[in-house]
Amino acid sequence: MSRKSILSSVGCSTLLCRSSTGLQPCRALRKPATSVFCSPTWCRGAKTKTVVKASSLPQGVLAPLPRDEIDTVPAKAYPTVLQQHLNNVRKFNDCVVLTRVGDFYEMYFDQVKQYAPLVNLKVAKRATVLGDVPMAGFQHTQLDRYLKMFVQDLGKQVAISEQVRLPDSERSSKAGAPMYDRKVTRVVTAGTLIDESFMDPYENNYLLAVHLEGALPAHSAHDGRSEAYERYKRTTKVGLSWVDLSSGDFYTQSSDLASLPSLAARVGPREVVLDSTMESAGQAQLQKLLGEGGYSLHYHQTTQTASSVAEWTPMLERAVPDKDQDNFTAPEIAAGSLVLDYIRNKLIDQQIQLQPPVRRSDDEYMSIDKQSLRGLEIRSTLRDGTFQGSVLHAVRHTVTKSGARLLSQRLVSPSMSLSVINNRLDLVQEMVGQDAFCEDVVALLRRTSDTLRLLQRFSIGKGDADDLLSLAKTVDVMGRLSEVLHDHIVAHQDGVVEQEEDVDLEPPELGFLWDILGRLDLQGPARVSKSIQHAIDEDGLDRRHVAEAEDQAEAEEMTDEVVSADTAGEKGPRLAKRASKTKVTTAESGPEEIWVMRRNASPTLERAHADLEKLLDLKRELARRLREQLKAESLMLKWGAQLGHYCHIKGRDAQGILSALEGARSIGSTKSTRTFYLADWTHLGVRIDDSKLRIRTEEERVFGKLRGQVVENLMKLRRNAAVLDELDVACSSATIAKERNLVRPILSEDTSHRIVGGRHPTVDAGLKAQGRVFTANDCAVGDQEKIYLITGPNMAGKSTYLRQNALITILAQTGCFVPADYAVIGLVDKIFSRVGSADNLYQDQSTFMVEMLEAAEILKQATPRSFVIMDEVGRGTTPEDGVAVGYACLHHLHHINKSRTLFATHFHALADMTRDFDALACYCTDVAEAGDGSWAYVHKLRRGVNRESHALKVARLAGLPESAMAVAAEVLADLQKERRRSAGHHSASLTALEYGPVLAVAAG
Ligand SMILES: Nc1ncnc2c1ncn2[C@@H]1O[C@H](COP(=O)(O)OP(=O)(O)OP(=O)(O)O)[C@@H](O)[C@H]1O
Ligand SMILES: [Mg+2]
Repeated sequence: MSRKSILSSVGCSTLLCRSSTGLQPCRALRKPATSVFCSPTWCRGAKTKTVVKASSLPQGVLAPLPRDEIDTVPAKAYPTVLQQHLNNVRKFNDCVVLTRVGDFYEMYFDQVKQYAPLVNLKVAKRATVLGDVPMAGFQHTQLDRYLKMFVQDLGKQVAISEQVRLPDSERSSKAGAPMYDRKVTRVVTAGTLIDESFMDPYENNYLLAVHLEGALPAHSAHDGRSEAYERYKRTTKVGLSWVDLSSGDFYTQSSDLASLPSLAARVGPREVVLDSTMESAGQAQLQKLLGEGGYSLHYHQTTQTASSVAEWTPMLERAVPDKDQDNFTAPEIAAGSLVLDYIRNKLIDQQIQLQPPVRRSDDEYMSIDKQSLRGLEIRSTLRDGTFQGSVLHAVRHTVTKSGARLLSQRLVSPSMSLSVINNRLDLVQEMVGQDAFCEDVVALLRRTSDTLRLLQRFSIGKGDADDLLSLAKTVDVMGRLSEVLHDHIVAHQDGVVEQEEDVDLEPPELGFLWDILGRLDLQGPARVSKSIQHAIDEDGLDRRHVAEAEDQAEAEEMTDEVVSADTAGEKGPRLAKRASKTKVTTAESGPEEIWVMRRNASPTLERAHADLEKLLDLKRELARRLREQLKAESLMLKWGAQLGHYCHIKGRDAQGILSALEGARSIGSTKSTRTFYLADWTHLGVRIDDSKLRIRTEEERVFGKLRGQVVENLMKLRRNAAVLDELDVACSSATIAKERNLVRPILSEDTSHRIVGGRHPTVDAGLKAQGRVFTANDCAVGDQEKIYLITGPNMAGKSTYLRQNALITILAQTGCFVPADYAVIGLVDKIFSRVGSADNLYQDQSTFMVEMLEAAEILKQATPRSFVIMDEVGRGTTPEDGVAVGYACLHHLHHINKSRTLFATHFHALADMTRDFDALACYCTDVAEAGDGSWAYVHKLRRGVNRESHALKVARLAGLPESAMAVAAEVLADLQKERRRSAGHHSASLTALEYGPVLAVAAG
């Protein structure tokens, strides 16, 4: 809040008025800062507190009212502001409506009961002729805090109704006629945040629109997992479009209904918008189609049905080239139009410029389905959903927020293009090999701001002097970076030339660095940066921040005092005293006007400052003359909100005679002070005010021009920002690679893996932190052995092994170095993992049902290029059923999917049953037991089957009571005895016979 507005607020002596029912913000206080005097308000019948100047009251005998006015007393009505609020509540019926009244945002009527307790707002009452109306509100400076609670925590939409000063032509001349209209200027929703302070800086804030071609399935088919339903899902075309308003990113993709859950999980939207025609399907079914992500769903009826990409142009920084327009499919266009229309509808008056849409397609990216994203703990942990412990946490060492967002995006959509991946890896490798270069780049990146989000503020016409300066500094850093890149390339080439004379080496290719350098376009942006730094006075800006911080602290302190005085049932006299003390601003003793533009920012500004200086000289001269004339050293030329320009003398000097002074008019005197108007000072004061106003207006003009320049360069600045993000991600990967001993993976078109000495990125780091060692393991799945069937004791590292290989694959295709000694990865199109067990009782799905649903998806979707990890499939049911299901999965994967598969199980019979699977190999982990009874896990994978689970060891480690342990040991001994006995009766081939029926079913 600016000093001025606080002071004018304080001018109305209390912040909150006490009513019989509680605290109410004072009406007078809520007058906007522009009205310094509390002008009379008169609303027939409404009990509003008014401050009326005595001079404006009718004096003498009152003239009778005209007849018709007496007869037609209007019906009772709510005060205008409440009426305006009600209208907005009706119009925006699905939103919380916050109405701006002076320095407050307020709610009234039913919404108060509904929402105030949810955000801990105190409920007060406002008296009206129609009875008390509940109200609740908060200071406008707190808007972001409450928006966070409403939008982010409670998933509401908030309509912000601002007060708009009515033009004189529209205002009634009647005293008390409303000066302001209240108009909803924006509806804030979780997916349409632009620059709110509570946004997660490390993740994109996507709004996703989904368009479905054709009708939704009939109800009978909903819960069925029938072939017909599957066919329906595969053939129903879906268009997706997602936008991050805070960065301007805009994407579209065509897909089918079956892939929708994975795509939605990858985008990770904060809000999903669907066409209003889908509302009838109901939340439950739509959530199911979207994959149970618990999305915040909203429906929207498009007001403009765009049928071509060209119609998106007004919302884009530049139009989509004609030749590219035809690439967009009809569902993509429908989804894009839906998302843009929704945004237009929510932003109302605000214009926004998005980046041209980028088309994504399924085959560009490795698909990580929803379960795998969760199960592999890519962005958050399975157990408690926290970031700490996730893969992203382990590999993120970015120094900028937008770099962190890029890494997160890449990690959930690893590339399928060898050239893209290799380009990324080249850059990482260069950073790994060139410490000093990497350090220089990181040091520079640390000095940049979140350019994409900054730019977005300019694109909607916001962005203040601080934003301009941050941008200018970032552009300077871009320039430095470009020099550093250039110098590095040149030095490198020189070095190679020298080297070439001695050694016969190929000159290393630094094409990827040239490419990056070539993408940094600095010409326009450097000019903007220069203009900004030429215009903005950083010291002035700093001083203004200090002043604002003081004002803010003062305002908060005063509010606290009022609230605590109210709680204690006191009147809060200290506040009134302080308020009356501060309500007079003095031109001499008060703070100097703080200018944020340099004087030479424009010729007009320079002239205006020179004029002001002259006037201030005149003022000093006038004061000097008056002091001399009146022999009053204490004389000051002041200005106050209520008195205007006046002169003030205090102490003994006050005894001087005013009569000698031409144009002086006394307005008050006490024993020790004297206050008077003086025509000379009044005239000069008005000229000084005018001059300051001219400076302010010119500052705003220059400011607007700078903003315009930024917007003109939006495209270049965004492109440069993208380059910075790429460098940040590469440096991050290089830093982690050096820290953790990672290697560059070799990507190939094959369908096999060859990982030597692979480690789990998070478990390895975790063990290292405890001073323990991770046992590295190899993995050569894909060539001869397409399926690894892994057995072994509990806690001996099966699950860890499965996940580490999936994660190494993902990291490799993301373009990161991987935790291994050597790794060749044949490109993987889809990663599937069936790992954790989770039930979804709410959706009527038991633990086993969830397990089977996940397994079903894998068997239906995995291709020969896919990578599948399956951990203990079938453990959620009886051993017989479990073995049957496990076998069926292996059979299907082996004969039909032919994917690379790591399959861990405690059903050892599966090893016997799959002996004739050519492409399946058995591996296991162990427990090593010493003669003295001590034992240790052997996490090293070896060929073979391990039929011992050593579960009781884990049970004892977990602290099962000794009595229970004794029972368990006894039972186990009996069972083992029983097994040995029956093994004596049955030959090995009979084991297969036991499962004969299962084999027959599976094969059939
Ligand atoms: N290769 C390894 N080197 C060192 N420690 C490991 C290794 N693999 C796993 N561990 C440790 O063992 C713990 C258990 O591993 P994991 O969950 O993979 O076992 P598991 O064989 O799947 O057990 P269960 O059969 O009970 O599911 C891990 O949390 C980790 O601390
Ligand atoms: Mg396990």
